[in-house]
Amino acid sequence: MKLDVLTLAIALFAPLAFADDLDSGNGTRWASSPLVGGKSWSDAFAKASALVANMTLEEKVNLTTGIDGRCAGNLGGVPRLGIEPFCLEDGPAGVRPVHGVSQFPVGLATAATWDKDLIYKRSLHMGQEFYDQGVHIALAPVTGGPLGRAVRMGRNWEGWWSDPYATGVASYLSVKGLQDSGVAVTAKTYYIGYEQETFRNAFGLTTIPGQRSVSANFDDKTAHEIYLWSFAESVRAGIAHVMCSYNEVNQTQACHNAYTQNHLLKTELAFQGSIISDWGGQHDNVAAAFGSMDMSMPGQAFGGALGTMWGEALVDLVRNGTIPEERVTNMVIRILTPWAWLGQDEKKLPEVVFNAVGLRTFSEGYRDVRKEETAKVIRKIGSDGATLLKNTGVLPLQNPQRIAVLGNDATDNVLGTNGGDCSVDNLNGTMSMGGGSGYAYAPYVVTPLDALKKRAIETGAEISAITLNTGVQTAAQSLLPTADVTLVFLHAWASEFYDRPSIELDQYMNELVATAVNYSSNVVVVMHIPGVVDIERWIDNENVTAVIAAWYPGQEAGNGLVDVLYGDVNPSGKLPFTWAHSVDDYVPGTLVEDPVEAPQANFTEGVLLDHRWFDENDITPRYEFGFGLSYTTFNYSDIVIAESAAHADELSIQETAEPFEEFDGSNSLYDVLFTVSASVANTGKVAGSEVSQLYVSIPEDSEPPKVLRGFEKVKNLSPGESATATFELRRKDLSVWDVVNQQWRIPEGEFVIHVGASSRNLPLTATWSKSS
Ligand SMILES: *[C@@H]1O[C@H](CO)[C@@H](O)[C@H](O)[C@H]1NC(C)=O
Ligand SMILES: *[C@@H]1O[C@H](CO)[C@@H](O)[C@H](O)[C@H]1NC(C)=O
Ligand SMILES: *[C@@H]1O[C@H](CO)[C@@H](O)[C@H](O)[C@H]1NC(C)=O
Ligand SMILES: *[C@@H]1O[C@H](CO)[C@@H](O)[C@H](O)[C@H]1NC(C)=O
Ligand SMILES: *[C@@H]1O[C@H](CO)[C@@H](O)[C@H](O)[C@H]1NC(C)=O
Ligand SMILES: *[C@@H]1O[C@H](CO)[C@@H](O)[C@H](O)[C@H]1NC(C)=O
Ligand SMILES: *[C@@H]1O[C@H](CO)[C@@H](O)[C@H](O)[C@H]1NC(C)=O
Ligand SMILES: *[C@@H]1O[C@H](CO)[C@@H](O)[C@H](O)[C@H]1NC(C)=O
Ligand SMILES: *[C@@H]1O[C@H](CO)[C@@H](O)[C@H](O)[C@H]1NC(C)=O
Ligand SMILES: *[C@@H]1O[C@H](CO)[C@@H](O)[C@H](O)[C@H]1NC(C)=O
Repeated sequence: MKLDVLTLAIALFAPLAFADDLDSGNGTRWASSPLVGGKSWSDAFAKASALVANMTLEEKVNLTTGIDGRCAGNLGGVPRLGIEPFCLEDGPAGVRPVHGVSQFPVGLATAATWDKDLIYKRSLHMGQEFYDQGVHIALAPVTGGPLGRAVRMGRNWEGWWSDPYATGVASYLSVKGLQDSGVAVTAKTYYIGYEQETFRNAFGLTTIPGQRSVSANFDDKTAHEIYLWSFAESVRAGIAHVMCSYNEVNQTQACHNAYTQNHLLKTELAFQGSIISDWGGQHDNVAAAFGSMDMSMPGQAFGGALGTMWGEALVDLVRNGTIPEERVTNMVIRILTPWAWLGQDEKKLPEVVFNAVGLRTFSEGYRDVRKEETAKVIRKIGSDGATLLKNTGVLPLQNPQRIAVLGNDATDNVLGTNGGDCSVDNLNGTMSMGGGSGYAYAPYVVTPLDALKKRAIETGAEISAITLNTGVQTAAQSLLPTADVTLVFLHAWASEFYDRPSIELDQYMNELVATAVNYSSNVVVVMHIPGVVDIERWIDNENVTAVIAAWYPGQEAGNGLVDVLYGDVNPSGKLPFTWAHSVDDYVPGTLVEDPVEAPQANFTEGVLLDHRWFDENDITPRYEFGFGLSYTTFNYSDIVIAESAAHADELSIQETAEPFEEFDGSNSLYDVLFTVSASVANTGKVAGSEVSQLYVSIPEDSEPPKVLRGFEKVKNLSPGESATATFELRRKDLSVWDVVNQQWRIPEGEFVIHVGASSRNLPLTATWSKSS
């Protein structure tokens, strides 16, 4: 453990400063639970407060500090008051590392569907599995961080869009879906500014002795308009917990940071639940308490490998007057309020039968909690998120009689499903998911070859696959020239703990494509990938006739894909990030990799995340944000702004206390000011769904040319059919963060509203201004 100067200062002066009892947001006084706007939690708050009032200090501490147990995180509970031990277990793509559960599509794959119903359903089904395994607190969903500031960030695939608005929509829906299943959830990966794996940990997990965690340094406007946005949506959805990150923010450890935790999260967003440390994110007992952290994980567990925090030391610190007991009381109220709100106090969860520690499960008990419907949702996300990037007309396949398949990604992992029970080694077959704590064990993986063979048998076709790791060319030379179509399967690995060294496909993958185009003039490329990869050397080759980004689709990989290849499902996935020609087109220097003692990540691009950067700098990407092809065509017409459709916010389960200029005592930052609608017509020959998008040009110099502020998927339009896409514009969607007055404000001037098919294909425009 190593204390930095600021931490030390807080540790030394906090008790004194506390006496002045000012809510200055710097740790002198933590935000209590005033239930500002927390109306729906008031009964639970009263219940929790009464329970805590009866607890001894040791009992309170038992609910704030992790201990060893069957789960990744465990709280001892309070036996005297009938409070059971708590089980905390990873997500965010399934219950991990547990068997008898589903492997869901990852966040990025789900984002690519742009389908709000599917986002909700995925979480609802996943929540059921957490609950039925006896998990009180799921370490899911991702609610921003990473947002994808750095394209090589090892965990971008766990998250959603490289966009705060769209990720905010996903946060709201996934928090709601999970908690509707009865499990309490944790907004994570992580609070706040977690945008690189490299140098994220101190505690000797890096190779540089004494190195501090990387510091994410971003300004106030960027904090509000980019990195905090999605957390605000999770608070509105009633999020129970928030996990603080490994990195520092402005040179203070995120889990000790009173400004971000106490001021931004608990005061401005009026978050009523608890802040849980990421495993090893707490570096100091006193600084974390004053910095507003509420639950220490793993606390006393793992034999101190991640630091031995709180527990008896917290009891001592209260007894000797360093930390006021009121702070500990407040922690416990924040932990028990959402627990009571979700009814976990009254209805006993199923007993935990698994035994999970670290990255692995030790099989003791096995309970299969999967429901039949879940696999269908997984398959649907796979097919609806598959993003068609190129198609010369060869797709959908017209019953080819001779099919060649190339690449080991097409078939089973030679080391076993799940890479031989090791979540960090899923490299040798269909890459259904990336690695690290975001991995979920697959009960099975339907590989593309499994699904293709089934189809070939049905249609009376021949199919032959070359899945060798080496020597592909010799085998391909005789097979490919006789095939009607060659399907090439590529993948790229990404995992927690590392950032991708580059966006290049590995040599094996590049050779597969080079071989395929050499011997076949009809090459369809399918990619299981965690984000952008470099396709420039072959994308324009005339023999590459179609390309699909299938992301990390989970256990039903082959089924979802083959639905699209054969046209049972018309592709409707679109890119949740910008696909550039070159890695150099993105914001430079986003990953700090120099081995210095105190690495600093300066977010100098500010609010120019992803597509905003490309717009601002007029850079033409290979495929723009929001791009994706279909087997049909769509036409946009008739944009209409309706101020008559204005209505009060109906969706906030918890209200935030974000200040805004037009506040009149009863209105909300989330009130809908007007709607925009547009007609979308299917002008092609087959039925299909279209993701329509709305962007706003905000009349303020500090804003990018346009920002995403709405998306609606218009589903299952028959040829010739039209439907209306309607977008709700909320006060916040039209506001900028005013750093001088510390509030949201709608600028004066003309707003231009753009509607269309992608961030660079926006045929419709309309204007609106505040005074109108
Ligand atoms: C916190 O802020 C208040 C008011 O700005 C200031 O008086 C106090 O010294 C600060 N305390 C610390 C520990 O920085
Ligand atoms: C607190 O303790 C008293 C005495 O043991 C008991 O009567 C009361 O019901 C307890 N209240 C709660 C909320 O547990
Ligand atoms: C703390 O939790 C442990 C494990 O459940 C339990 O045995 C112990 O009695 C608890 N301590 C207190 C003070 O309630
Ligand atoms: C970081 O520090 C700058 C300069 O003091 C401040 O304006 C900004 O709000 C801080 N950002 C965060 C996230 O605390
Ligand atoms: C209070 O207790 C903590 C934990 O045992 C100890 O580290 C610290 O030195 C004590 N402080 C005082 C002022 O006694
Ligand atoms: C698994 O994949 C890795 C990375 O591509 C490769 O180095 C290794 O040889 C493969 N193992 C087997 C058994 O194929
Ligand atoms: C392409 O075909 C030519 C002629 O058969 C052969 O010499 C060359 O090695 C092939 N290249 C690849 C990558 O298959
Ligand atoms: C396309 O494939 C044919 C074989 O079908 C081959 O003769 C030709 O060279 C290939 N073209 C390119 C650009 O690779
Ligand atoms: C980050 O910003 C600080 C303050 O402006 C500057 O001193 C430092 O050199 C910057 N670090 C990097 C890596 O750009
Ligand atoms: C397509 O939409 C434009 C308006 O954006 C309209 O002028 C045109 O008539 C439409 N075409 C078809 C075929 O619907």
